[in-house]
Amino acid sequence: MMESALTARDRVGVQDFVLLENHTSEVAFIENLRKRFKENLIYTYIGSVLVSVNPYKDLEIYTKQHMERYRGVNFYEVSPHIYAVSDNAYRSMRTERRDQCMLISGESGAGKTEASKKVLQYYAVTCPASEQVQTVKDRLLQSNPVLEAFGNAKTLRNDNSSRFGKYMDIQFDFRGAPVGGHILNYLLEKSRVVHQSHGERNFHIFYQLIEGGEEDLLRRLGLERNTQQYQYLVKGNCPKVSSINDRSDWKLVRKALSVIGFSDDDVEELLNIIASVLHLGNVQFGGEDSGNAYITTDTQIKYLARLLGVDGSVLKEALTHKKITAKGEELMSPLNQEQASSARDALSKAIYGRTFTWLVNKINDSLAFKDDSFSSKNASVIGLLDIYGFEVFQNNRWEESNCGLYYSIALLCFQWEPVQYFNNKIICDLVEEKFKGIISILDEECLRPGDASDITFLEKLEDTVGGHVHFLSHKLADGKTRKVMGRDEFRLLHYAGEVNYSVNGFLDKNNDLLFRNLKEVMCMSENKILTQCFDREELTDRKRPETTATQFKNSLAKLMEILMSKEPSYVRCIKPNDAKQAGRFDEVLIRHQVKYLGLMENLRVRRAGFAYRRRYEVFLQRYKSLCPDTWPNWDGRLVDGVSTLVKHLGYKPEEYKLGRSKIFIRFPKTLFATEDALEVRKHSLATKLQASWKGYSQKSKYRKLRHSAILIQAWWRGILARRRAQRRREAADTIRRFIKGFMYRHQPRCPENEYFLDYVRYSFLMKLHRNLPKTVLDKSWPTPPPALIETSEHLRKLCMQNMVWKYCKTISPEWKHQLEQKMVASEIFKDKKDNYPQSVPKLFVGTRLNGEDINPKVLQALGTEKMKYGVPVTKYDRKGYKARARQMLLTGSSVFIVEDTKLKQRIDYSALKGISVSSLSDGMFVLHVPCEDNKQKGDVVLQSDHVIETLTKVAICADKINSININQGSIKFTVSQGKEGIIDFTSGSELLIAKAKNGHLSVTAPRLNSR
Ligand SMILES: Nc1ncnc2c1ncn2[C@@H]1O[C@H](COP(=O)(O)OP(=O)(O)O)[C@@H](O)[C@H]1O
Ligand SMILES: [Mg+2]
Repeated sequence: MMESALTARDRVGVQDFVLLENHTSEVAFIENLRKRFKENLIYTYIGSVLVSVNPYKDLEIYTKQHMERYRGVNFYEVSPHIYAVSDNAYRSMRTERRDQCMLISGESGAGKTEASKKVLQYYAVTCPASEQVQTVKDRLLQSNPVLEAFGNAKTLRNDNSSRFGKYMDIQFDFRGAPVGGHILNYLLEKSRVVHQSHGERNFHIFYQLIEGGEEDLLRRLGLERNTQQYQYLVKGNCPKVSSINDRSDWKLVRKALSVIGFSDDDVEELLNIIASVLHLGNVQFGGEDSGNAYITTDTQIKYLARLLGVDGSVLKEALTHKKITAKGEELMSPLNQEQASSARDALSKAIYGRTFTWLVNKINDSLAFKDDSFSSKNASVIGLLDIYGFEVFQNNRWEESNCGLYYSIALLCFQWEPVQYFNNKIICDLVEEKFKGIISILDEECLRPGDASDITFLEKLEDTVGGHVHFLSHKLADGKTRKVMGRDEFRLLHYAGEVNYSVNGFLDKNNDLLFRNLKEVMCMSENKILTQCFDREELTDRKRPETTATQFKNSLAKLMEILMSKEPSYVRCIKPNDAKQAGRFDEVLIRHQVKYLGLMENLRVRRAGFAYRRRYEVFLQRYKSLCPDTWPNWDGRLVDGVSTLVKHLGYKPEEYKLGRSKIFIRFPKTLFATEDALEVRKHSLATKLQASWKGYSQKSKYRKLRHSAILIQAWWRGILARRRAQRRREAADTIRRFIKGFMYRHQPRCPENEYFLDYVRYSFLMKLHRNLPKTVLDKSWPTPPPALIETSEHLRKLCMQNMVWKYCKTISPEWKHQLEQKMVASEIFKDKKDNYPQSVPKLFVGTRLNGEDINPKVLQALGTEKMKYGVPVTKYDRKGYKARARQMLLTGSSVFIVEDTKLKQRIDYSALKGISVSSLSDGMFVLHVPCEDNKQKGDVVLQSDHVIETLTKVAICADKINSININQGSIKFTVSQGKEGIIDFTSGSELLIAKAKNGHLSVTAPRLNSR
C-alpha cells in the first residue's frame, strides 16, 4: 500500500512527491527520485501524475502476475506503476463512462514509447476477451512493430526513436473488452529519408529489408545486400547498431503485417515502394554547360520505372524539369543540378511520407470495429498519446524536426493542465496566432513572390513579433545575450526556460514542395498503393498546397479537439543519462528534465498548501482503527467520522481542513505520525483478528464435526434399528413356526412341523453332545424324542463301548490283576454273601504277611515253595471250638496253616475238597479235606478278617472257583472220621462266636446297613 510503504520512506523515499516535507525544494525532489532509482523503483507519483525514470534494463515488473496485482485495485493501495495508471483510467472509463486519454511525455529516449506499449499490453492481457476480441488484441499489439519499422529510427539519443507522433485510440465495448482501435499519426520526420545526422540512421525498414530480405526478393527489387550501396543510408555513417537485429526484426515485421491483414500483394507493392526510394536516392545528376541537369544513372531509372509502374522517360524528364504555367501556356523549364537533386529528394520524401500515411490508414482499417449492431456511440475510448518531438525544448533542433510546430503541440499539451505559475497561452499565441503568429509569418514568407529566404523571414519576425516579451533575436538582444546567440537564431522564453532556434532551412522545410510534373508522374503509377497516395484531384486543384506548418497546425488542432473531450492521465518520462546506461543517475540532466517537464510546478499545484488529500471514505477506511468511536464501523456521515477520528488523533486545527468530500492535511509529518500509529495498531489488530478468526474457525470446525457426528450417529442408529427389527421379525417367524410345529408334532412330517421336528432332534443331539456321560459308571442319558429312541439306544451303546474301550486301554497290569481277582470274587460272592459289597471298594493286596511277619523257620520249612499269599487267621478247634491265632500261607501247590515256627498243617490243593462259608457278614470259612487222608485230622475251621479276599486268593491259587459253597443257616464239617460238627449262623447286632449248648459253634453275624 502506498501509505504502508511510507514506513520504508527513509530508504526508498516517498512514493508520492506530495508527501515530501519540503515540497518546494528541487534538491529534495531529485534526492527522492535518486533514492528510489537506486532501489529500482522507477515509478513515483505526483498525486495522480506518474513520473517514470527509464531504467535502461529489464526490471521484471511487467509480468502477468504484476498485471493481476494491479487489476481492479485502488490507485493508492499498491506501489506506483504504469499499470496502476492504466487500470485507473480503465476503471474510470467503465464506471464514469467517460473517455480517457493518457498523455505520455518526456524527451527522446525517456521511455514514452515503451510506456505506451506497456499500457497496451496491460489492456490486452487484463481486459475481458472473446474470440473475436482476441484478433483485435493481436492486431493492436502487432501494429506496433510495423509502425516502428516504418516510423522509428536510431538517433543519437535513442536506438529506437519514434520519428512520428502517434495518438492511438483503443475502443472498448460495454463489457469493457477492446473491440477496435484507431491510430492518428502526425509529423513524420520525412527529412530523415534523404538525410541523417552523423551517428544516426534512416528508418529501420530500409535496413531490415536489405539485411533480412530473401535473395529472391532482393533480386526482384534490384537491391544488393549491402547498405553501403545506398546514398540514403550512408549519410549518418552508422549502418549497424548493437542493440538492433535487423534480420530478426524483419521476420517480426513480416509476421506482424500478415497478422494485421496485409495481403501478399499489399506487401509486394509496399516493398516496391521502399526499394524505389533507395533507388531514387542513387539517381545521380550531371550538369551540362548550360547548367541544366541530366541523369547519369540509367539503371536506377530502369528499376524505378518497373517498381513504380511508370514510364521511364517521363520520369527522367520530370526529375530534371519543372513545369511552369506562363500566360496560360505550360512550359517545361530545365532544372540545374542542385534543383534536380532537391526535386528528387522531395519526391522520395513525398513517396515515403504518403506511403506511411497509407500504412497507418491500412492498419486503421484492420483495427476498425466492424460490427454494425454496435454503434460507436456505445464505445468507450482510451487514447494513448506518445508526445513526440519533445526534445525540441531541450535541443532546439527546430530544423531537424521539420517544423517548429512540435513546439506548439507540446505546449498545447502542457497548457491543458493549467500551470498557474506560468501562462503558456502567451507562447502559444506567439507561435500560432492567425496572421500575427510565427507560423503565419513563415507561411506568408514562403508564398511571397520574390527572393524570400530564411534571413528575410527572421527580419520579418523581428518586425512583427519583435516587441513580444517572450521573443528575442540576435539583433534585439543585449550584448550579453548576443554572445550565446547566433545571428541566424531567435529565442523563445517559455516557462521551462529559454530556447534558441536557428532559422536555417526554415523556408525550404516549410515549403517542402513537390513539383507538379513529379506529382503527375506519380498519379500515373501502376503501383496500387501509390495510386491511393497520389490523387489526380490534387492536380486539378488550382489552390496552392498548404505549407507543412499549416498542415500540421490543422492536424494538431484536430488532435487537440480529440484530446480535450477526454479525461487525461499523465505519465512523465525521464531519462537518467545520455549514455543509455542502467544505474547511472545524471543529476544535471535530470534537473533539466524536472524543470522543463514542469514537475516542480505540478507538485506545487498538487500541494497547494496541503500535502495530502484523500476522499473521506478512503481515509476513514484506512485509519478508523485508531479511534474507538470509528472502530470497527462508523454509521454516521463520513465527514463526522473523519472529524471524530482526527480529533481523537489530536490533529490541530491548522494542520488539516475538511472539504466537501476530502480531507486535506497540511504537513506530511502529520500523516506520517498517523501512519506510524497505524503500524503499531496493526500489530494488536492482527493479534485480535487472528484470535477471533481462530475462534471462529475452531467453532465452525467444531460445528462441522458435531454435525458430522450426529449424521453418523443417526445413520448408525438407523442401521441398528433396522437390524433389530429384522431380528425381531425373524424371531417372531421362528416362534410362530415353532408353535405351529408343536401343534402338528404328532402328524407325519409336513411343512408345518418339519422345522419343529428337526429342531427337536437337533436340540436333543446338541443336548446329548453337551451331556455325554464322562465315565463308565455314569448311567445318565437324556430322554430322546420319540423319533430318536432307536438312535438314542444305538448311540448309548456306542458311547458305552467307546468309554469301556478307552478305559481298558488305560488299565495297568497291576490293576488288571486286581480286577481279575475282583471279577473272581464277584463271580463267587456277588449277591450271595452279605459282606461282599463291603469288600468291593477295598483293594485286594498281594499279601497280608511279609517276610518279617513270618518266622524264618517257617520260611525255611517251605523250602523252594514260594509264598503267594499270607494272611493272619483264627483257627477254631474242631472240638471245643477254642480260637487260636494262626497264619495261613498259600503257595503254588498248597495251603499251609502255621503256628509260630511250625508248619502245623499242609493241604495240597488237589486234596482240597471244597470250601464253605456262610451267606452272612461273618469271616468264618471251612476248608474241607478228605477224612481218609491220614495226614489230615479233619476239616479246618478258620476265620479271616478279609474273608472275601482270602477265599478269592485260595480259589484262584487252588483253581477251586466252583468249589466254594455258600450256605444259609449252617455248615457241616468233618471233625474226624465219621464224626461231624456244625456251625450255626444267625444275624445279630454284633459278631459273636461261641460254643452253643447244643454243641454247635454258634456265629452271630452283625447285620450290615447295606443289606
Ligand atoms: N520501462 C522500461 N524498462 C526497461 N527499459 C526501458 C523502459 N523504458 C524504456 N526503456 C529503454 O529505453 C529505450 C528508449 O525508450 P523509448 O520508449 O523508445 O523512448 P522514447 O519513446 O521516449 O523516445 C528503449 O528502447 C528501452 O531500451
Ligand atoms: Mg518513442
